Amino acid sequence: MMKKGIYAVLLGLLFFSACEDNPYSQGEILYNNFCSNCHATDGSGLQGLIPPLAASDFLDKNRDQLACIIRYGLADTIVVNGRTYTQEMEAIPNLSRFEIANILNYVEYSWGNKQQYFTIQEIEASLEKCE
Ligand code: HEC
Repeated sequence: MMKKGIYAVLLGLLFFSACEDNPYSQGEILYNNFCSNCHATDGSGLQGLIPPLAASDFLDKNRDQLACIIRYGLADTIVVNGRTYTQEMEAIPNLSRFEIANILNYVEYSWGNKQQYFTIQEIEASLEKCE
């Protein structure tokens, strides 16, 4: 009985410390590898050239396109937070749907964004539409 209690406390501590930081740590690593070159580690983008992901109104308005943008890139004229962007984003075809979900959940948890959690099913449904 005593032993069980100690394990419960230890488990609780482990769980608690794992939850302190951003819960999407795999998404954070992937973001820093694949996105931060352009969009910056704080999601602020690059003045006039690369749109921000931090508090981006584009994310809210185009939720169902985000997975496709990552996989297939985007060569369009878009408006993000009132500014126009025309540079092309190259496709990143090697990321799995799980990795895309992790990245988007990290982005949506960070920098003032607060969209709903992306499930794998939602990512798959979005990708099917743009394949
Ligand atoms: C080589 C630079 C580059 C990389 C790397 C890059 N992007 Fe982009 N991204 C851009 C550019 C440029 C645009 C604007 C495209 C346009 O105007 O058609 C853009 C647009 C976007 C948009 C839509 C606009 C917005 O700001 O909300 C999202 C979402 C996005 N990128 C997410 C990502 C994610 C997530 C990654 C990593 C998996 C990533 N990008 C990697 C350059 C990049």
